[in-house]
Amino acid sequence: MGKSQDLYLQKAKKLIPGGTQLLSKRPEMFSPALWPAYYDRARGCEIWDLDGNSYIDMSYMGVGSCILGYADEDVDNAVKMAIDKGSMTTLNCPEEIQLAEVLCEIHPWAEMVRYARTGGEAMAIAVRIARAKTGKDLILFCGYHGWHDWYLSANLADDKALNEHLLSGLQPKGVPRGLKGTAIPFNYNDTKEFLSLVDKYKGEISAVVMESIRNYYPEGGFLEIIRETTKTLGVVLIFDEITSGWRLNLGGAHLKLGVKPDIAVFAKAISNGYPMAAVLGRANVMGVAQDTFISSTYWTERIGPVAALATINKLRQNDVPEYLITRGEEVQEGWKRLAQKHHLDITVSGIYPLSHFSFEYENPLVLKTLFTQLMLEKGFLATTAFYASYAHREKHVQTYLEAIDEVFEFAGKAIEKGNAEQYLKGPICHSGFGRLT
Ligand SMILES: Cc1ncc(COP(=O)(O)O)c(C=O)c1O
Repeated sequence: MGKSQDLYLQKAKKLIPGGTQLLSKRPEMFSPALWPAYYDRARGCEIWDLDGNSYIDMSYMGVGSCILGYADEDVDNAVKMAIDKGSMTTLNCPEEIQLAEVLCEIHPWAEMVRYARTGGEAMAIAVRIARAKTGKDLILFCGYHGWHDWYLSANLADDKALNEHLLSGLQPKGVPRGLKGTAIPFNYNDTKEFLSLVDKYKGEISAVVMESIRNYYPEGGFLEIIRETTKTLGVVLIFDEITSGWRLNLGGAHLKLGVKPDIAVFAKAISNGYPMAAVLGRANVMGVAQDTFISSTYWTERIGPVAALATINKLRQNDVPEYLITRGEEVQEGWKRLAQKHHLDITVSGIYPLSHFSFEYENPLVLKTLFTQLMLEKGFLATTAFYASYAHREKHVQTYLEAIDEVFEFAGKAIEKGNAEQYLKGPICHSGFGRLT
């Protein structure tokens, strides 16, 4: 066992409840005993573990945050300058005003911005503003939006309420029972379900909270109907662009989809790995932030806005979203072609920059673990998803698909013989996000 796995299995589990700070970074989500949990350094799309092994990351790229690649020189140089000039003082940093101007220029429907440093807390801010604006409590939501009480409270109403939106069995322990019934889920593209919830809770709804897009494109005027309905009822429409933003176009994906919310929330990719989040909105909604209390010391530090400005600048100058679409399309087409070649039954989904596939067999987790194990042996961090970054060059995709050619061939034969599990060198991975969005 290498140092990386040893650290996780021998120490992390004892010192840190759950082993990591983020569910998606648990080795159990990939290959529990083989995934090299810790890194020493990273650059572009290459990561070195604690044993000096290097891997090409063809998986989540910092769980969707490093859209330009690891240790991007332009962003890092801007951050280093901010550190040298003092990243925290008694006074505010002017870059937060520059960033507000840039965000409002890219999203002309918006006029004001507040900041946070993580996605979940930025969503909690947006929900607080919506509740303050409307004086109502109820939230209709679709998809995943973080760990906070407002969101997890959906599982207080019904244990299974979040099953189709987050992880099955997600525990709302510690969330005040008084919040029961304040967050109600609906499914993406299910207009009928949405309208029946609106009918049922009309007069009580403060906000509709959703990603503008995730796994599927909107169908049948879904977003337009939500926009019209919320407008008519005076309900605040919040688009969570934390993962969807900056990948299909510069800014929120809603710009490309042609539907404008009242609030849009950004985090993750907006600052290429440095903590930063922005809550952007119309002045008549955002102004209400003044009527409640939303305030935190580290929301004023300088690195976040500086990293965001440098990231947005580079995304814009290099037309990075187009690049991500191209890389993602190559990967999706490659998966399909190779699955067909080796008679594997897989389903490919997701917008190109956030691509997924699933094994359509009785034992998908065995096959997923085997896939990761075999790809690790070939020098790739890989799972059943590929989040494209600007550091992924054509050659990375090519060598990745060459490796998959061999791995799919192996898996295809194992499936035929019905003995895939016997090739596993460790336990089977746990199931991940099972959202139907
Ligand atoms: C759509 C969406 N909203 C919110 C979050 C939560 O963001 P964070 O993990 O930065 O709190 C995530 C993270 O995966 C996300 O994908």
